[in-house]
Amino acid sequence: MSDRLTIRRPDDWHLHLRDGEMLKAVLPETARHFARAIIMPNLVPPVVTGADAADYRDRIMWAKPKNSKFQPLMTLYLTEETEVKDLRAAAEIGLVTAVKLYPAGATTNSQSGVRDVAKVMRVLENMAQIGLPLCVHGEVTSPEIDIFDREAAFIETILEPVRREIPELRVVMEHITTKDGIDYVAAGGDTIAGTITTHHLVINRNHILAGGIRPHYYCLPVAKRESHRLALRAAATSGNPSFFLGTDSAPHTDAAKLQPCGCAGIFTAPNTMSILAHVFEEEGALEKLEAFASLNGPAFYRLPVNEDTITLEKRAEPVIYPETLKTGEGPVTVFDPGFPLYWSVAA
Ligand code: DOR
Ligand code: ZN
Repeated sequence: MSDRLTIRRPDDWHLHLRDGEMLKAVLPETARHFARAIIMPNLVPPVVTGADAADYRDRIMWAKPKNSKFQPLMTLYLTEETEVKDLRAAAEIGLVTAVKLYPAGATTNSQSGVRDVAKVMRVLENMAQIGLPLCVHGEVTSPEIDIFDREAAFIETILEPVRREIPELRVVMEHITTKDGIDYVAAGGDTIAGTITTHHLVINRNHILAGGIRPHYYCLPVAKRESHRLALRAAATSGNPSFFLGTDSAPHTDAAKLQPCGCAGIFTAPNTMSILAHVFEEEGALEKLEAFASLNGPAFYRLPVNEDTITLEKRAEPVIYPETLKTGEGPVTVFDPGFPLYWSVAA
């Protein structure tokens, strides 16, 4: 097995950068390896209008390391009040790359999200007309639906009816965690794609709950049973162009995670490429890593692939990542995959 792998520079098709001190601390971790990222709009208050997105993009550009060429791809947070005119204008000038649908209450800062999909159908129709992709957090929120079933229920009760009504709408089903999600996307043709996170390729629900509760493995959608993790790994390493990397790296301070009611989110930006190389090697699919991390995403989003490359090297000794990242808001724990990492991105 070769111990060096050069691939086109990867992109992250689902990333939380936050704002202020946190933005300043976490952005370099992504900009070090990734050329572009789809930036999640779930700030407080959310990034709802074109003007909000322009301001947030400016703040990201300010926070960026001086010589970094990192490019944020902005999204708008879909609400029942989203205005078609504003959205179309933002898309036309290339300010936004996608729109994000959060079912209200599904996750962190989703209170302003969509309660009744009927109220956003006109916006979705307009997006289909101009080819603007919709990124979905694919979980229903009804309290009577078991949290482990919420992704499958979303497909059946929301996603499939919307896609049947607006077949041209281009959808990214984000952070897929179930075999149901994988099968749905794989059978869905070229108007749907799915992102898969780094951590869902590594952990199942036992990591969170067996032998003690581990808040640093808690995120949404929550990791499912092992058979689902194996379906995710098979899809990610298959080379199928419908699947690509969206890390969902979602930093919260340890103080916010380690609480009686702790926040959902796993911070993987620093070691994502090391972990992915490990996973793909384990699956005998290192040659498919470039498709997953660098080629399939741009193809779906109709963007050029990155011109430059990164090289991953396998070392004789494990690469040690800091356990926490210090930020102006407090320490943020870096995802621990639970096994030693030998791959790292060459400087
Ligand atoms: O675990 C998660 N964290 N899932 C989400 O959908 C949101 C994210 C966050 O913003 O912290
Ligand atoms: Zn997310």
